[in-house]
Amino acid sequence: MSTKTVIKKVNEHVEQTVTIGAWINNKRSSGKIQFLQLRDGTGYIQGVVVKSEVSEELWNDAKSLTQESSLYVTGIIREEPRSKSGYEMTVTGIEIIHLTENYPITPKEHGTDFLMDHRHLWLRSNRQRAVMVIRAEIIRAVQEFFNDNGFTKVDPPILTPSAAEDSTELFHIKYFDEDAYLTQSGQLYMEAAAMALGKVYSFGPTFRAEKSKTRRHLIEFWMIEPEMAFTDHEESLRVQEQFVAYVVQSVLKNCRTELETLERDISKLENIQAPFPRISYDEAIEFLKGKDFDIPWGNDFGAPHETAIAEAYDKPVFITNYPKDIKAFYMKPDPERPEVVLCADMIAPEGYGEIIGGSQRIDDPELMKQRFEEHNLTEEAYKWYLDLRTYGSVPHSGFGLGLERTVAWICGLDHVRETIAFPRMLYRLYP
Ligand code: 4AD
Ligand code: MG
Repeated sequence: MSTKTVIKKVNEHVEQTVTIGAWINNKRSSGKIQFLQLRDGTGYIQGVVVKSEVSEELWNDAKSLTQESSLYVTGIIREEPRSKSGYEMTVTGIEIIHLTENYPITPKEHGTDFLMDHRHLWLRSNRQRAVMVIRAEIIRAVQEFFNDNGFTKVDPPILTPSAAEDSTELFHIKYFDEDAYLTQSGQLYMEAAAMALGKVYSFGPTFRAEKSKTRRHLIEFWMIEPEMAFTDHEESLRVQEQFVAYVVQSVLKNCRTELETLERDISKLENIQAPFPRISYDEAIEFLKGKDFDIPWGNDFGAPHETAIAEAYDKPVFITNYPKDIKAFYMKPDPERPEVVLCADMIAPEGYGEIIGGSQRIDDPELMKQRFEEHNLTEEAYKWYLDLRTYGSVPHSGFGLGLERTVAWICGLDHVRETIAFPRMLYRLYP
């Protein structure tokens, strides 16, 4: 009798006969021995079929297996120090489920467009699997961090009547007889939730109809948005650095194999410990001028600016106190210098760009009304948001971490398209 198991758990079955549902990742043969590279989603193991030890039928079945054919394979698990996983299977039985013909993704190189058109199959590759496992670990660690630190998870709506970030484009949809938009950020609702629960966080999809075709932009991306009552900007920065360090260290602890598969330079990640360096917007402008960038005070930073600043540090860096005119309407002005706001963007090292945007929020109802006017936001649509300042207003701060950019950084990927199973990008909605 054999026990059904998965590749990840073969260490519990050494010298025992087990059955595994698997796909053929690759195959080699020496004439007398066939080596089946098996994968089942949990890991990889080599199955060894020895001609002199198996029936002719089994030998021929093994021979007929092609890349991505599916099967139940039965065999004895052996310790094998020479194999990467440390184990091997001596195959004693094969039950073919489905023979695949002409699998389109072969071990040779393919172009990006081809791979993106076959994303549903490309996901099966070793590297793509590693990215998905690390993404899942990041999500797990995010939730663990906030759950362990007194935050309550709240789910903001996805269909919204108005904009959260007035600086970016919205997806418009019909909501019966009304107009609605897909959410760009749950922040405004999370502020309401913070007034009810103190410390809250959300994790959900957000949508931006941005015509940006860059390595860092998706149309649909996932954001983690904590919001904290009775918390100023400075305290929020401390939460942010603890949080990001915790997530990186969790991946290092729990995803060694996957980081190796991706050939990630682990020493760069080991260094990610709080505190993180800080530089004000003013200092960043001076720094950039020193690097021969022609950028006047008041302009926003683009990717080349962010990369130049990030290169000066080996940890994520906060750029703080941006001019109010290039930031969102809800950010609280610095009381000493009202032309800048109490905000920070966290820029990842190694050129991965902005991973967090955050700020202290305006808590004065009169100033908030003034901002509605300056930004052409109708008081009618935002009345509920003003109510948060009218009834028991408190200093509060929050931030949003972009999951895909964080995955790209931790995995060391040059494009966010590989950080999510089915990326939605400008000009790509298939598959
Ligand atoms: O800086 P953003 O626009 O901030 C907000 O939306 C705030 N309401 C968050 C808050 O305070 N609760 O977006 C936050 C993060 C960015 O730093 C970036 O990591 C990511 O979301 N992001 C994107 N990721 C992928 N594709 C896009 N198009 C993105 N736009 C923003
Ligand atoms: Mg931002």
